[in-house]
Amino acid sequence: MQPPRIQLPPFLQLHQWVAHPLRFMEESVQRHGDSFVMQFPNTPPFFFTRDVEMVRQLFTGKPEDLYVGPVNRVLESVVGKNSLLLLDDQEHIRERRMMTPPFHGERMLSYGRSMREAASRSIDGWPQGKAFTLHEVFQDITLDIILETVFGLAEGETFTHFHELFARMLDMGSHNAVLYMSALLPAERMLKLLAVGRDPVQLGPWKVNVSRALPWTQLSRLMQEVDAYLFAEIARRRAEGVEKREDVLSLLMQAHDEQGQPMSGQELRDEAITLLAAGHETTATTLAWAFHFVLQHPEVEEKLRAELRQVAGTGPLSPEQVNRLEYLDATLKETLRLVPVAPAVGRVLQRPMKVGGWDLPAGMGVMACAYLTHRRPDLWPEPERFNPERFLGKRPSPYEYFPFGGGARRCLGMAFATYEMRIVFAEVLRRVKLRPATPYSFQVSRRGVTLAPRGGVPVIVESRN
Ligand code: HEM
Repeated sequence: MQPPRIQLPPFLQLHQWVAHPLRFMEESVQRHGDSFVMQFPNTPPFFFTRDVEMVRQLFTGKPEDLYVGPVNRVLESVVGKNSLLLLDDQEHIRERRMMTPPFHGERMLSYGRSMREAASRSIDGWPQGKAFTLHEVFQDITLDIILETVFGLAEGETFTHFHELFARMLDMGSHNAVLYMSALLPAERMLKLLAVGRDPVQLGPWKVNVSRALPWTQLSRLMQEVDAYLFAEIARRRAEGVEKREDVLSLLMQAHDEQGQPMSGQELRDEAITLLAAGHETTATTLAWAFHFVLQHPEVEEKLRAELRQVAGTGPLSPEQVNRLEYLDATLKETLRLVPVAPAVGRVLQRPMKVGGWDLPAGMGVMACAYLTHRRPDLWPEPERFNPERFLGKRPSPYEYFPFGGGARRCLGMAFATYEMRIVFAEVLRRVKLRPATPYSFQVSRRGVTLAPRGGVPVIVESRN
């Protein structure tokens, strides 16, 4: 049996998916039911589903039948072809094994201090009585955290320079124009396009710097600078030794595969950029959404404050206390239920498969749609209501709730992100009382592959503790 297909020209489907992803998914489920097929130009068709049994099949299937690389190809021009996000099969298993130890739950305690200090530094600078956007400050905080814990940079001139450079690079990388181009062009063509206009073009007597005009050439220039820094830094650390360092990049430099081989310089560069791209915007956006919901629900905020007082008193939260904040954990889970920043996770079939009742051909993309599954009224009563209580004392099935994806490809940084969001959220609650700057509604804008709150959640600091 063949699944229903969305009846729109492929370019229009791509446009809807980039510009109005939620509305497009909701309308498709209303029109076609739990599963339907989307088709973009130059890509395989994508089968979307919110059927729990099909999600289970996808997350428990054999990795050699279900590739992820082709789904993430749009990211290749930024993260590079050695990125964990693009590898499959044995190459993925090898790389994931080497990258897992720095993200193991126990290691989080050693990152806790950097996380709290980054939040605290930022909060010190928040204006009193003047509006600012939470999404922006959380982006700064989570970028600082990645620079310290993943790249091992310490505060100072280099830190500030790279903070700005990375922020601009990620901003350009999530520009919709870059997204359209990446989706429309094969990776090799996209890489060539990135090179076009990188150097000034001679037009008669004038040298014109095209790179300032086009988002992808700006991105390309920024990436060149970031790469030059990273390769120099890797070489420097190799010469000086990394045994005493605790940052993720240095731990990756010490990792070996089963044949005793370390990662090459290019692999280290690609994975460092992968962690930056996968770990910064996702966490910042989820934090912004969490405050978006909490500031509209004073009863939730009151419970969060009460729990924090009970666990940590009036002092700062210690790393050991983080896991005792059950209501905060439920609040973050409820936020990720309503707005999973990656609304769907995909695999590409390597052989024909029967998924649910449907016959799907090899080469088809299959997307487990978190956004739609998390709003099924039969699984989540009153699905539109923000209600952290629904997670208290409960462990939802990994096929009904999967903001971090699932199976062998589940988010590598899940423990890191969860720990970080609890620490940053608690520090904000402890230090300031915020109120929304203007009444605003639930509106989503796309940033790269994630869904961000439109307007960035403008707030005002009402008082400081
Ligand atoms: C709220 C924060 C985050 C969310 C919602 C999130 C979500 C996701 C999702 C949905 C996937 C795809 C999983 C799949 O295909 O089944 C993923 C993969 C990944 N994430 Fe995260 N992520 C977050 C934070 C982080 C952080 C902080 C890091 C690292 C510092 C990170 C690193 C990665 C990596 C490396 C992968 C690729 C895993 C693989 O293919 O084996 N993420 N994430």
